[in-house]
Amino acid sequence: MRDFEGEVIKNEHITKDFFIIEFRLQKPIYAIEPGQFVMVKIPDERVFLRRPFSIYDCNKNSLSIMYRIKGEGTHYLSKTPKGIKTQILGPLGKGFNINFEDHLKPVIIAGGIGIAGVHLLIKKIKKTPDIFYGCSDEKEVKLIEDLKAKHVYIATMDGSFGFKGDVISLFERHLKHYQSSICIYACGPEAMFKSLKEKIKPEIKCEVLLEERMACGMGLCFGCVKKTLDEKEPYKRVCKEGPVFDIWQISL
Ligand SMILES: Cc1cc2nc3c(=O)[nH]c(=O)nc-3n(C[C@H](O)[C@H](O)[C@H](O)COP(=O)(O)OP(=O)(O)OC[C@H]3O[C@@H](n4cnc5c(N)ncnc54)[C@H](O)[C@@H]3O)c2cc1C
Ligand code: FES
Repeated sequence: MRDFEGEVIKNEHITKDFFIIEFRLQKPIYAIEPGQFVMVKIPDERVFLRRPFSIYDCNKNSLSIMYRIKGEGTHYLSKTPKGIKTQILGPLGKGFNINFEDHLKPVIIAGGIGIAGVHLLIKKIKKTPDIFYGCSDEKEVKLIEDLKAKHVYIATMDGSFGFKGDVISLFERHLKHYQSSICIYACGPEAMFKSLKEKIKPEIKCEVLLEERMACGMGLCFGCVKKTLDEKEPYKRVCKEGPVFDIWQISL
């Protein structure tokens, strides 16, 4: 983990309130696990704390993030022009375990901006995954434009593209064909994880990427703790022991 200086080389509006920002890094970044994140200093003096974002993509000297405008930090980020320099701390946290057993088929499930948390995983995973992506409407399907060549099942809440309904209902339709020979990686809202946990059998391996509000991102402030089912040490820091957790070890 290091604090890098990054220069904005792209800050592109994708659709609705979604953007991709790319930074040129002053020094190369190595050994990134899919699912890890960075703490980005928002280049505006009105925003004090850094904000956590999953690493959407990276090459040796560049790193990009897909983000959705949520509050003031992401609002100012969306206004940041090319050429501005800022600080990026990372890579942070524990990513997805991609060393699964050979006979298992990887299945990736993302809800909305959750696609940002699994994008690097989709790029790096060795075995071709089945991808389930759920969003509000066809405009948000633009977020997965670069995944067109992959095996993607799409659900929209308003039915304007693909299956009408939520992504877990779509996944459930396929579940019986997979039986238990899959390992699942998911990123999205907690309600999605809750629904997923209710639908799958406990023998299915499933990892989820949790998002909590963070202040330090490095395990120091305990501002991001999440209660788990670990009887000895129930409270885990999402930034340090996570953000990726075994779905069977967290309370939802
Ligand atoms: C591991 C991880 C990965 C993420 N990846 C992405 C991603 O790829 N794309 C994306 O769009 N979003 C991602 N998020 C969510 C993203 O961090 C938030 O949307 C973003 O921080 C919102 O910032 P804001 O200023 O716009 O919103 P606001 O809601 O206005 O501000 C949120 C910020 O307020 C501060 N804050 C408020 N209350 C507290 C508190 N109780 N304790 C500590 N700090 C507090 C923190 O600085 C916090 O980050 C991720 C979150 C996590 C934890
Ligand atoms: S954000 Fe400080 S311990 Fe996790």
